[in-house]
Amino acid sequence: MAIQWFPGHMHLTRKAIGERIKEIDVVIELLDARLPGSSANPMLAEITKGKPALKVLNKQDLADPTRTAAWLEHFNAQSGVRALPLDASMSTPSRALVAACHALAPNRGGMTKPMRVLICGIPNVGKSTLINTLKGKRAAKTGDEAGVTKLEQRITIADDFYLYDTPGILWPRIIVAKSGYNLAASGAVGRNAFEDEEVALELLDYLRQHYAPALEARYKIKDAASFTDEQLLEGVGRKRGALLGGGKVNLNHAAEIVIHDFRSGALGRVTLETPAEFAQWLDVGEKLDAERQIKKDAIELARNIRLKKVPRPPKAGSRGAVEEGDDEPSD
Ligand code: G4P
Repeated sequence: MAIQWFPGHMHLTRKAIGERIKEIDVVIELLDARLPGSSANPMLAEITKGKPALKVLNKQDLADPTRTAAWLEHFNAQSGVRALPLDASMSTPSRALVAACHALAPNRGGMTKPMRVLICGIPNVGKSTLINTLKGKRAAKTGDEAGVTKLEQRITIADDFYLYDTPGILWPRIIVAKSGYNLAASGAVGRNAFEDEEVALELLDYLRQHYAPALEARYKIKDAASFTDEQLLEGVGRKRGALLGGGKVNLNHAAEIVIHDFRSGALGRVTLETPAEFAQWLDVGEKLDAERQIKKDAIELARNIRLKKVPRPPKAGSRGAVEEGDDEPSD
């Protein structure tokens, strides 16, 4: 089962960002450096269209440095976009952020034209932590449950540099199945949206193909790439004592161990997607999403015709004639 996560109240956030965006010069989007494609919200690009964008690959301390470099190159090649890596250990992140924003909006600055920047990011990407560092005190609440940041706030970074926190919560919109698993593994979606076991199996499958030495080192398994994801999950459970009665493995507990080890960095520095992989997943996801939308529109049109909210469309070649029995969409 693919992970679906797009709470209904997102339209309020969309509206609030839409209203604020007019007075914004640069949009900073915090991305999780371990999943830079999946942790982006496609809706944000749509609402902030035309505004220069700074993509911050946050939690870079947990990500594969080679892949972070590839993602930075990917974003920096886009017009009106700059990208930089960041993590919570950097004590003066504002210097790099301020410089990048000035490069993106060189006409802003000074008391009469202060730089106005909007900072956005999906839950758990590290936004509260960064804002706290920028403020120099622990004022915003941080936590490990998705969606702790709720209140809109303005942070003065310099006399002529204002940072606005996103009004509302920017949930990810998951149209790519693989993104759903990667977001769940990272802790960006609520626990009620996924099964640990399913997420751990997807994670193990990716790790065995791309980071087999990390699995071998952590779980003392030889030749990790030669096992299936199920065998690996069982192996982790046995090695780590996640057992039920009768010597059976407690797969759910084993899954929690794998997810925890990924989140905490105990598996080493891992990135779950490359720009090329993500582009391929997105292509498939967008096609499926478009097909879903066409079906939804057809169902809605049929319902509206039935309820006589809209006139029945003429059949092709019938010069406006209306026939009975054709008001349900065909698949
Ligand atoms: P949010 O506002 O975007 O929802 O995220 P928040 O700052 O609450 O951070 C979510 C979790 O990510 C926190 O861990 C935080 O410490 C951690 N984090 C933030 N930035 C970084 C980073 O650059 N590197 C690493 N490795 N972790 C980071 P937590 O365990 O949920 O909370 P806590 O125990 O730190 O309070």
